[in-house]
Amino acid sequence: MPEKSLVGCHRLRRLRQSAWCRDMLQENHLTAQDLILPVFIREQSTAKEIASFPGVTRLTLEELIIVAQEAYDLGIPAIALFPVIDVSLKTPDGIEALNPKSLIVRAVRLLKEKIPHLGVICDVALDPYTTHGHDGLYIEGKIPNDETVAILCKQALLLAQAGADAVAPSDMMDGRIQAIRKTLDREKFLDTLVISYAVKFASAFYGPFRNAVDVTCLAGDKKTYQLNPANIKEALMEMVADEKEQADMLIVKPGMCYLDVLHQATQLTRLPVLAYQVSGEYTMIKLAGQYGSMDANKMMMESLIAFKRAGARAIFTYAAMDVARAL
Ligand code: PBG
Repeated sequence: MPEKSLVGCHRLRRLRQSAWCRDMLQENHLTAQDLILPVFIREQSTAKEIASFPGVTRLTLEELIIVAQEAYDLGIPAIALFPVIDVSLKTPDGIEALNPKSLIVRAVRLLKEKIPHLGVICDVALDPYTTHGHDGLYIEGKIPNDETVAILCKQALLLAQAGADAVAPSDMMDGRIQAIRKTLDREKFLDTLVISYAVKFASAFYGPFRNAVDVTCLAGDKKTYQLNPANIKEALMEMVADEKEQADMLIVKPGMCYLDVLHQATQLTRLPVLAYQVSGEYTMIKLAGQYGSMDANKMMMESLIAFKRAGARAIFTYAAMDVARAL
């Protein structure tokens, strides 16, 4: 007999009582098609292991092809490449970013030759190539905007020429989306996508990534170009600006602490908005699992479905392979 006071109560738990009903009514789903796999690539002579980044290693070009083929076979639509540059090639102006024989150029060519239908996304920023670790030039303690954009345009063009399907500026300079689009159009790369890291916060969650690309000596911080984690209006202004500048897709990064930003962004623009589960988020989940305090696989699935619920059309995650296998 029901409690008298509960007679007539709308019993929402009816919907949750059996698996068939729960499954049928699930509002959001995660599939391998939602995932983008970020990978770090290296020369033979560079170490494979990365400090404090559980389960993630740097790959040689041969290893890259094996992993990329597996990702493709699992239904992952795209990978995002991040090169690890030998210290001997790092300079204050990051000129190696414009080398037509660089590691990333070779990687893109090889991928497009071996696995032509796997999407290849390349970061546009100077940080892997500079001695100071900034995403742009660094002159007298400042990152000059327009001079940096001029170099990023050349970097983007080189990546497009190598065959990248998409270039993804992650540098947060002003006006770079429009400048890169114009450069690509002028050089007849009309079909190369520009995926903008439109909203990128100055986050402590990038730690393992910086270890991976060997940027452990960052001069100062990135607060003069990356966003203040306290600000959402400013983040949405970045979204609007990059949409106007003809970005094809927009990224919010990091993911988990910024679901409100992600959600509002999807209300604001009709462009696809992607989430980036960054290295520190991934590592937190993995380490908590190793520590035995929580189930890492379940936490991973929960955090990825949360991005879908918030409106992400796809998600960059270092767990893409494991998740695609599990799905
Ligand atoms: C830099 C870049 C960063 C990441 C992607 N591109 C780090 C930074 O801004 O310092 C971080 C990604 C991650 O932590 O997973 N252009």
